[in-house]
Amino acid sequence: MDIKRISIIATAAIALAASAYGAGHSPIAQRQEAMKAIGGQMRTLGGMAQGKVAYDDFAVLSALEIMRDAATTARPLFANGDNPGAETTRAKPEIWAADSDFDARLGQLIASLNTAITAEPADLASFGPLFGAIAQNCKGCHEKYRAPKN
Ligand code: HEC
Repeated sequence: MDIKRISIIATAAIALAASAYGAGHSPIAQRQEAMKAIGGQMRTLGGMAQGKVAYDDFAVLSALEIMRDAATTARPLFANGDNPGAETTRAKPEIWAADSDFDARLGQLIASLNTAITAEPADLASFGPLFGAIAQNCKGCHEKYRAPKN
């Protein structure tokens, strides 16, 4: 392969990387993606918690770790106001009010994920209560800080 082709491929790779992580992906879009990832893993875990899918301790740990990473990624992306009018967000302005406990709630979600990861639940009986503690965070925060779909 000659040097010109290599440089064309390298340029294409850089352009691709820039489009995946660059200006096109605002903090709002990124935090929504992170929340979607969390939601996807919760469906996997929920199926097991309800006994619809066989319990798989390795899959549970992987899902919990993906959720922890996504929640950790999302946390600072809520820091800079809601950028009203710029694009679609369901984040309520109350998130940035002086008495907001939003960040504490995200911290609590991460803490409950860490608790479950550290526990390494080997069976459904030990996973059930850990799953319940995680799921509470979603509902509580969405009720207070997420606007309904329009
Ligand atoms: C501390 C608050 C908080 C917690 C905890 C939280 N969420 Fe969210 N979630 C939000 C907010 C705010 C939005 C709207 C974000 C936006 O539109 O900018 C959101 C959006 C979402 C979305 C929609 C993403 C989209 O744009 O399509 C899903 C799915 C979701 N959350 C799932 C979950 C699940 C599952 C959990 C629990 C494991 C969870 N969330 C925990 C605040 C939270």
